[in-house]
Amino acid sequence: MFGLLEQDFAGRRCIWVNGPVIVGAGPSGLAVSACLREEGIPFVVIERAECIASLWQKRTYDRLKLHLPKKFCQLPKLPFSEEYPEYPTKKQFITYLESYAKKFNIKPKFNESVQSAKYDRTCGVWRVKTVSTTGSIPSVTEYICQMLVVATGENAEGVVPEIEGLQEFSGEVIHAKDYKSGEKYTGKKVLVVGCGNSGMEVSLDLANHNAKPSMVVRSSVHVLPREIFGKSTFDLAMILMKWLPLWLVDKLLLILAWLILGNTQKYGIRRPKLGPLELKNNHGKTPVLDIGTLKRIRSGDINVVTGITRFHGSSVQLINGEILEIDSVVLATGYCSNVPYWLQENELFGKNGFPKQQFPNGWKGKGGLYASGFTRRGLTGVSADAMKIAQDIGNVWKEELNQKKRKVATHRRCISTY
Ligand SMILES: Cc1cc2nc3c(=O)[nH]c(=O)nc-3n(C[C@H](O)[C@H](O)[C@H](O)COP(=O)(O)OP(=O)(O)OC[C@H]3O[C@@H](n4cnc5c(N)ncnc54)[C@H](O)[C@@H]3O)c2cc1C
Ligand SMILES: NC(=O)c1ccc[n+]([C@@H]2O[C@H](COP(=O)([O-])OP(=O)(O)OC[C@H]3O[C@@H](n4cnc5c(N)ncnc54)[C@H](OP(=O)(O)O)[C@@H]3O)[C@@H](O)[C@H]2O)c1
Repeated sequence: MFGLLEQDFAGRRCIWVNGPVIVGAGPSGLAVSACLREEGIPFVVIERAECIASLWQKRTYDRLKLHLPKKFCQLPKLPFSEEYPEYPTKKQFITYLESYAKKFNIKPKFNESVQSAKYDRTCGVWRVKTVSTTGSIPSVTEYICQMLVVATGENAEGVVPEIEGLQEFSGEVIHAKDYKSGEKYTGKKVLVVGCGNSGMEVSLDLANHNAKPSMVVRSSVHVLPREIFGKSTFDLAMILMKWLPLWLVDKLLLILAWLILGNTQKYGIRRPKLGPLELKNNHGKTPVLDIGTLKRIRSGDINVVTGITRFHGSSVQLINGEILEIDSVVLATGYCSNVPYWLQENELFGKNGFPKQQFPNGWKGKGGLYASGFTRRGLTGVSADAMKIAQDIGNVWKEELNQKKRKVATHRRCISTY
């Protein structure tokens, strides 16, 4: 796997990698690795955490389940077990990913966080610097490679918005990435900021644990049932899109959602002007797939409130003037990519840490750079990217191998004629 291992003058380890370096051992990094393994191409995976799929293992709540049917969530070359339910639990998904890593013999370099990656034009290589996160003295390593796969995820860091007075709020404030269960909130008044899939599900979990959640809905959101007449809404939308234009599928989905869920506006949840699929395609905003939150809103167990003006000691003031006394805050305010902090490149990736070109075009850059898992299409996009990237790397790899063989053959011919 490794070529040379040397130390430079500053005492840093320098490692020449034969094959691509993959940054991130989440589903994307694992999927690319598995496809490369099948092609017989060596690679190195670098992961900042001490385990694979750290988002799933460390930064998600206990009650989480995949919200799309399993056939849309399996990675290339290994289907889910037939015994798994239609919507596997987080635990089952992690078990699947662990067996995936084992099957394809993927052994990431754990506890190494990539601090910078830069293309060295003179030598035509990527220089990837990592800091080891174990031990008392951080050690720096430089990996040198010809191909770099960015697989650090769309949800690498939690977004903490600046809200007036939040710093002085007397109760506990956590991001949804650190929320595990509503158990410790029983009887407490909890403000959940945000109404994406996380905000809706955290609110439901809090209600299930007899806490008193208030969920902040500052703008508009599409809430769709997870299933329509027993069929996954996502699956249904995919089928309809084969035959009908997007706008018509959106209209049908909204009629069905209205029949099943009723008028969400009645409960303070306005719908955006654009349809759910159009909004997702053009602006990357994911619709919420309801798994019971609306029922608890209707019954009054979850209180929907408007945007926040500011926090005071133990209360929050809302834009409609209302003041709520609260014990704790859960910021379900979303995630962001961390690519701009370490990748010194601005052609493939934009300032927001996502490829500038939209799906299906944003997976390949120049100089052997690839982006895996930035399609805003969850695990379906992860698999699509991985297969394209591995195939492309495979082509480059075989071409280089053939060139080397041709050179050796020419060299041999020259020697024999000499
Ligand atoms: C709460 C939640 C639930 C979700 N549920 C679903 C779902 O049901 N279905 C679905 O399709 N999608 C879901 N998603 C989207 C989810 O992001 C993807 O499913 C999937 O995890 C993406 O895989 P990834 O490998 O691209 O990113 P990640 O899973 O985020 O993996 C990226 C890895 O890169 C590592 N990393 C980051 N920066 C560095 C660095 N600088 N150096 C080294 N390593 C680094 C991270 O530690 C991480 O292990 C969910 C997201 C969240 C937040
Ligand atoms: N079961 C599942 O499969 C599951 C569960 C959870 C998450 N996910 C996935 O994980 C990804 C992230 O989801 P997410 O819900 O964490 O993030 P998200 O979809 O980005 O939603 C963030 C929410 O926070 C709100 N917000 C941000 N700043 C705010 C502020 N200052 N004041 C009030 N509200 C604020 C946003 O409102 P605006 O819309 O007004 O900006 C939005 O409602 C998505 O892809 C999602 O599908 C999946």
